Amino acid sequence: MRAAVAAQEAGADVALLSKLHPTRSHSGAAEGGINAALGNASEDNPESHAFDTVKGSDYLADQDAVEILCDSAPEDVYELEHWGALFSRTADGRIAQRPFGAAGAPRTAYAADITGHVLIQVLYEQIVRREIPVYEEWYAWRLVVDGGRCVGVLAWDLLNGGLKSVGAKATIIATGGPGRLYAGSTNAYACTGDGMAMALRAGAPLEDMEMMQFHPTTLAPSGVLITEGCRGEGAYLVNASGERFLKHYAPHAMELASRDVISRAVQTEIDGGRGVDGSVMLDLRHLGAERILERLHNTRELSLTFAGVDPIYDPIPVRPGAHYHMGGVDTDVWGRTPIEGLYAAGEAACVSVHGANRLGGNALMETITFGKRAGRHAAENLGGGGEVSESAVRDAQRELSDLVARTDGERPWSIRNELAESMHDNFGVFRREAGMQEQTRIVERLRERYARVVVEDKGDVFNSDLTQALELGCLLDLAACMVEAGLARKESRGAHARPDDYPKRDDENFLRHTIVTWADGRPKLDWKPVTITRWQPAEREY
Ligand code: FUM
Repeated sequence: MRAAVAAQEAGADVALLSKLHPTRSHSGAAEGGINAALGNASEDNPESHAFDTVKGSDYLADQDAVEILCDSAPEDVYELEHWGALFSRTADGRIAQRPFGAAGAPRTAYAADITGHVLIQVLYEQIVRREIPVYEEWYAWRLVVDGGRCVGVLAWDLLNGGLKSVGAKATIIATGGPGRLYAGSTNAYACTGDGMAMALRAGAPLEDMEMMQFHPTTLAPSGVLITEGCRGEGAYLVNASGERFLKHYAPHAMELASRDVISRAVQTEIDGGRGVDGSVMLDLRHLGAERILERLHNTRELSLTFAGVDPIYDPIPVRPGAHYHMGGVDTDVWGRTPIEGLYAAGEAACVSVHGANRLGGNALMETITFGKRAGRHAAENLGGGGEVSESAVRDAQRELSDLVARTDGERPWSIRNELAESMHDNFGVFRREAGMQEQTRIVERLRERYARVVVEDKGDVFNSDLTQALELGCLLDLAACMVEAGLARKESRGAHARPDDYPKRDDENFLRHTIVTWADGRPKLDWKPVTITRWQPAEREY
């Protein structure tokens, strides 16, 4: 939505396609806040924000992109405020900021613990106000590339059925991540990485696909996000003995170390038998009812609804869950992909500001800053084209009709479940060579089975059976890319932890991004250098 607004402001004729109503998009589930060095809670500046981000990324982020993000963040947050975002306030009326993990200052601006929900409403208001047409519940499925240029997209109209062709001189992918690849995930069912898969199949490279972030505190057993804002407000993580175990892993930052460090600590406690029924406990009780109700009311509601626990009186059972994908469609700092006329922004893209580990609060900021930049650049540099050929539509129509017409075969859900469980087991918080090799074979077998998948619903209206089958195809291709990149990265860096064979970061050989393209129906691996501007890699300590 931020890209659409920027493109329209720059004079383009814009339309927005979304498989959901825009306010149901997964950014609405972001809870704890958005990072900008406003300096409202203590002294702060964009340079410190950038340093924390680079260090948090385990030095894999591209530092030119990080500097753009952190320099633009204050102005971009104030713009959201002026559009009506109801941020929480300090006593003297400024935007309130809370501490978040691995941040040198309380830098996370927030609206209680429903920040994403608030921001998505504000952006949608801008879409409505500017009369930008929204084709909602259109499932974008295929990019059309003609003569090396992206000329538009083919989408399935969920409500009415039928393939729709949308010609465009520029197309911006802002479709989020593939979090549903995992059994334990904070992500909505819609997060199936469709945009990444579309770009990959159209010939665009994907970057750092092995870098899936596990959030340390997801509610057991549902996987619902329990915000880092709890720890920002002072909550403790304790094991079965009531010990604040982070003193063994991050003695200075404790609960506010970076996410990769805390997720590994939590998983180590659980694996070592020091958890409680496969979880550790997040204790908010000492914060007191008043603070919980004012700043963490959504967390309380989620805990009550999904675990029957009232955090005012009892600790919340939590464990790591798939949360955010640091990789994505390889773009430059304007959101451009190597395909003319094709852009990407947000979680679908890898610009790369998160490297091997994203800081909490930087994802919302990235969608705004780089969405805006992609929208503006696309509008100001419109090339020719924009016509989708009849043959492209015919080919796609035939493919879909063949899929729907198939009567014999396997239902998608069993493949999807096996994929999610096996990714969790073999490509989770910790990765091991044998597990990743096994996962390569599992994904290959699942892709063979997928070729015979059958859609039972033969109708047009809200054929979610069909869209789920298409989504599964995206997830399978992305899983193949992730494991390929994971096997190639023979070191431990950020979210990619190989404790048995390569327990340390290896800057000499792996201070570089993985790049995956799609060749003959399988991933092909390459590398690309990391951009370093100011901060040489150093050992991380929290
Ligand atoms: O914990 C959270 O509120 C998540 C924030 C984020 O992923 O940026």
